[in-house]
Order: sequence, then C-alpha cells, then structure tokens
Amino acid sequence: MPGLPDPPERRLSMEISRRNLMIGATLAPLATSLATPALARAASPSAPMIGGMFGPGEGVALLSRNENPYGPSTKAQAAAEAATAKGAYYADTAATVLIKIIAEKYGVTPEQVVIGTGSSEVLNAIALAWKPKGAYLGAELFWDTTAKWAVKLGATLKTVPLTPAMEVDLPAMAAAVDDSIGLVHIVNPNNPTGLLLDGNALRGFIKTVAPKKTVLIDEAYNELVPDPDYSSMIDMVRAGHDVIITRTFSKIFGMAGMRVGYAITTPANAALIRQYMMTSLNSAGLAAAIASYEEEDFKTFSKGKIIEAREMIVAAAKSAGLPILTPTANFAFVKVADANAVQKAMAAKGVMIRGTYGKWSQWSRVSTGRIEDVERYCRALPEAASA
Ligand SMILES: Cc1ncc(COP(=O)(O)O)c(C=O)c1O
Repeated sequence: MPGLPDPPERRLSMEISRRNLMIGATLAPLATSLATPALARAASPSAPMIGGMFGPGEGVALLSRNENPYGPSTKAQAAAEAATAKGAYYADTAATVLIKIIAEKYGVTPEQVVIGTGSSEVLNAIALAWKPKGAYLGAELFWDTTAKWAVKLGATLKTVPLTPAMEVDLPAMAAAVDDSIGLVHIVNPNNPTGLLLDGNALRGFIKTVAPKKTVLIDEAYNELVPDPDYSSMIDMVRAGHDVIITRTFSKIFGMAGMRVGYAITTPANAALIRQYMMTSLNSAGLAAAIASYEEEDFKTFSKGKIIEAREMIVAAAKSAGLPILTPTANFAFVKVADANAVQKAMAAKGVMIRGTYGKWSQWSRVSTGRIEDVERYCRALPEAASA
C-alpha cells in the first residue's frame, strides 16, 4: 500500500501478505488448495491484515501502520457514498473544488496547491522533479519511503545523524547543505520517532537553508501536535520561501484507504511538481475530503482519541520501566531490548506493531488505534518486552 511507513525491504513481504489477504477474503475454500508453502510462510506475524479485506481481520489489533480507525467521519462516508453513485464521471471538478478549499484555508492561491493520491504521490513526484537538481538530504531516521523510491530510480540520499536525544539535528543538517544537495527533506513530527521540532527553530533553519536549496517539510501528522499552527511551516510558504509542505487526509481524518494528500508551495514549485504527477484522484476520496475538511467537531473527536491512546501507551511504557520518546503524532517509539522479539511476542497475542528500523534494533514503534486495541497492547507490554 502506498504511503505506509515501511522501508522498501518490507514491501515485498507486504505485497505477498496482500495477496494472501485477497485470497483469504474472497476465495477462502480455493485458497486452501492453492496456497503454496512460500505464501504460507509469508503470512508471518508481521503480516498485519490477514483475514480482513479492508482493515484488520477479526481479533487483530492493528497498531503497525499509523492509521486512524476513528475516521472517516460519518459526513465524509455519506459524501463518498453519494459520489460513488456518480462514479461514472471523472472527478476533475471536485478536484478543483478541493484545491480551492485548501488554498482558502491557508491563504495561498490555488496555483500553490497540488493534490495527489495520498501525500505519497505528491512526495514521489517531488522526488522525481528534484532528482536532476542533486542529492536528497534527510535525517538518518525519517519516513524515507519516497526518498528511497527516488534512490531506486537513480537519486542519491545523504543522511545526517540524529542528536543523542534522537531529534533531527537542524544545525548539522544546515551544515550538510552543499552544492551536491538538491532537496532537504524534514518530517515534522518525525516518523518513526514521533518527536516534534520547535517551530521557530525550524523557521530559522528555513531562513538559512531555503535561499540555497528547496526545503521539503512533510507535515503528515501536523494536526495531531499540541499547537499545529506554530509547528506548521505554511507561513514560510506564504512569506515566499523556497519551501514545500506536504499534508495528508490519511491521519487526523482517518482516510488512509481513500488516498488524498496535498502539497502547498510556491507557484513555481507547484508547477514543477504537477509535471511529475501520475494520476488523478477518485470521486469517493475527493468527496470525503471536501466533506470533512472543515469539520472541526470531528477533528476534535479524532485528535482526542489519539491523545487518549498516546497517554495510555506512555503510562504503560513507564510502568513497565521502558523509556519512551514524547509522542506527538498517532504513534509512539518505545525502547525495548529487542524490537523484533517484542513484535513477535505481540503478534502471538494478535497485536500487530512494527519491528526493528535498521540499526535501531531497540526501538519499537506502536501506532495508536482503537482504544480497546491499545488496551490490549498495554496489557501485553510487560510480558512482551521481556521476550
Ligand atoms: C511522514 C509520512 N509522510 C507521508 C506518509 C504517506 O501518507 P499518505 O500517502 O497516506 O498520505 C506517511 C504514511 O504513513 C508518513 O508517515
């Protein structure tokens, strides 16, 4: 699935898992005779959705993919259903409407907004468009799925170590910007750490770096942080800096499967990004996005559930004596002895979380989700952590 916080090496096993999922949901009797040993092996504990076509199967606590099960809002669902009835028609008028709504909300022009099939599509287009300008610069640990996709297509990715506190090291990033760099990519809050950079520190960074190179700030989780306006760099776009902000409907709006995301940037950058976009959006996703964009009550509800779950995870980690980074999005990063072992122990109880990220073998990421699923995680944590 596009846009998931999974490094590419996990994608293959997820592809296979998805094939199992399709088989499991639609052709169960046939699947029994068709399933090969290789496919059966691929249905490892990390395969998150076996048995469910859309979302987790029966009894599965799906806490591995930073989804938000509290969306889409009922209003968004009704709008999507109505739009589906008109699914015979291409949805470009609705796309124009959504662009206008976003532009008005953020005080930019429609020319400055690019919408895509999830923010992943926009991020991929950015990666392609900036490839000829030079290397990608990112933190040593960030949501690098789209950067790594660009690497597969010939781009170079340079990374800068995190601070000892596991934060993105802004001074070191600024110092690493030289002629070889084409694009500087920062995720705020970062995924998988969940740590949030100070808004004004980031503004200072942009003032130093953006006169030299384009700065991309991925704000997928912005709406979930304590003060979204202070933490967002959209004001820096309005001020004319060479900055690209990406956002998504996948998180606060709980619409990951409906695939709507966007970028806000300068008119020139937006025009360049548009040249590399590959497809147009679907009616249901657009209708849901338009219906829920200004739905403040729903956003408050959704954020409330996420914060409640975050607090439960923090309390559980603390009572199990496990260090945890301060979570500011819909996931938390917990320090354990062995993240893969914890993932396996949790999976044995039907709780799906992430395993090791590269060399960070002691850090275990868990997403917030349905409160009852987070309760299962919290209950299982003391035993799983000693696995
Ligand atoms: C930081 C970050 N950016 C972008 C995405 C992609 O989201 P989507 O393509 O669903 O908008 C994700 C997905 O988890 C993410 O974690």
